[in-house]
Amino acid sequence: MDVLVSARRWTDSSLWTISCILICLACIVFKIVRKAQWTRLDREFRSFAASRKCALPSTVQGSLLSGTRHKWKRLYDRGDMFNDYMHSVFHKNGPTHAIVEPTSGDTKTIYTIEPENIKTMLHTNFSEYHRSRNMPNALDPVMGQGVFTSNGEAWAHSRRLVKAQFSTQRVRNVAKLEPYVQNVFNEVGNVGKDGWTEPLELLLTFNRFTLDSATEFMFGTSAESHRAAMREKEMFIATKKKRGVRAKYHLVMTDFGTAFDIALDYVALRLKLGRWWFLADGFWFRIACYKVKSYADTYIREAVAHADEAAKRAQEKEKGAVARDVGSDETVDLDDRRYGLISELVGSYPDKVALRNQVMQLLVAGRDTTAATLTWSFILLEAHPTEFNRLRSDIIEHFGTESDPRRSVTFENLKSCVYLQWVVAEVVRLYPTGPLNARKAFVNTVLPVGGGADGKSPVAVKAGTTVAYNTYLLHRRDELWGEGSWDFKPERWEGRKTGWEYIPFHGGPQTCLGRKFEFPNSREMADGFS
Ligand code: HEM
Repeated sequence: MDVLVSARRWTDSSLWTISCILICLACIVFKIVRKAQWTRLDREFRSFAASRKCALPSTVQGSLLSGTRHKWKRLYDRGDMFNDYMHSVFHKNGPTHAIVEPTSGDTKTIYTIEPENIKTMLHTNFSEYHRSRNMPNALDPVMGQGVFTSNGEAWAHSRRLVKAQFSTQRVRNVAKLEPYVQNVFNEVGNVGKDGWTEPLELLLTFNRFTLDSATEFMFGTSAESHRAAMREKEMFIATKKKRGVRAKYHLVMTDFGTAFDIALDYVALRLKLGRWWFLADGFWFRIACYKVKSYADTYIREAVAHADEAAKRAQEKEKGAVARDVGSDETVDLDDRRYGLISELVGSYPDKVALRNQVMQLLVAGRDTTAATLTWSFILLEAHPTEFNRLRSDIIEHFGTESDPRRSVTFENLKSCVYLQWVVAEVVRLYPTGPLNARKAFVNTVLPVGGGADGKSPVAVKAGTTVAYNTYLLHRRDELWGEGSWDFKPERWEGRKTGWEYIPFHGGPQTCLGRKFEFPNSREMADGFS
């Protein structure tokens, strides 16, 4: 018996030893294969770089901790991440520089603020880059796949479908914004004896404005987040409750706006975390996503039912089954516009989840960007009274006043109000809502400038390298904008034609689809305040 037990122990321990040895061998083989692969790719890359006469850009040696330090700064340095930290890095290392991995010596990221490089990446060699996977991963629970997060053929397909709808008259219907502009005025309230209104968090107010107008545009019905907030404010005053009962309480209680805000707070954190996106997750995030999606689904179901009904009736009409004068069910409202943009997308998306994803992507793409632009406009105008007064008199001259109107506020009339155009252009120059953006090269490719001691030689980009461009600092380069590029000067836009030194709405095939929609949004609001 003893012999049997010890034989079994021996077999167990030797099996264990053999397994360990096999695992170690597998790791070594894997490492050797990876190294061989890396060496081959590196050799190919070097000869590619030599054949294109490329030179190295200035390099910054990353340390084992620098990635973490960078992330920490992104997460917690609320103040001057761009003005101090990033500006000084560009100042020290030049407009194109590379961050090199401490262990492998490989270039991990190339940073650039050269218009030529940005044009090459976003336009000329667009097909050689794609969006990083961190973005779709971070956004997935709220909005799945769609035009904003996909690459390649999937992106091209989504873009074709959505773009077709953005050229319609719907985008130009500025009058639809009016009730939401009025909501903002109601919230701002009247001016007191001291000439001031009560203090107000403008960003919150504009977040509601843009959410309400965007949901009206998408679904044909507004989320009415403004009304919900006002109701809550009244309740708060009535019950004298402390403001501490924030997110979770709201979420259980009510509305789309709060759920949307909570979902986007998480998304922002997930984006900041980069490849550690999955760390920002949890119960409240999932509940918020669920609420937001259910809201969208309600409208999508209605729009689908409506489209089916319309198709059925059209068929019947064709067959002559429905005579013109039969009015039995004429009460069915077949006006597509009632359902907003989704009614136009319904036919292109047989899969309702794909349709919902697309709609959510558009909401997210348009909401915070517009609200942030509006907020910055007011911050800048408040700090620049001369520019504010010029804008005010320009708008009054153009449109008149509420009691003495001259022209109606239409898409076309807003476009012809020149100083207003300059102000908005200047605001998104100084505060672009995508201040730092990136693409990943998936083949070996070349950026036209940034290499060598003078920074004029082409730079080779290895497949897998991220090229990040800093729109914020690109828009503030004296070489491109003249002295005083950090100052708010709408007059600089007089007669100015822009190229790739100005990309608040991105550029090339993935240029912002809401660009046409956005400018009237900001302008109508400015007009209302004058
Ligand atoms: C001030 C307002 C806005 C700014 C500054 C802005 C800026 C941008 C930027 C920088 C991108 C490129 C993102 C990337 O691919 O890395 C983008 C893409 C996009 N924007 Fe906007 N945006 C604004 C408003 C809007 C609005 C109101 C909508 C829609 C209602 C919208 C829809 C889109 C869409 C669909 C894309 C993806 C285009 C594609 O990949 O093909 N944007 N926007």
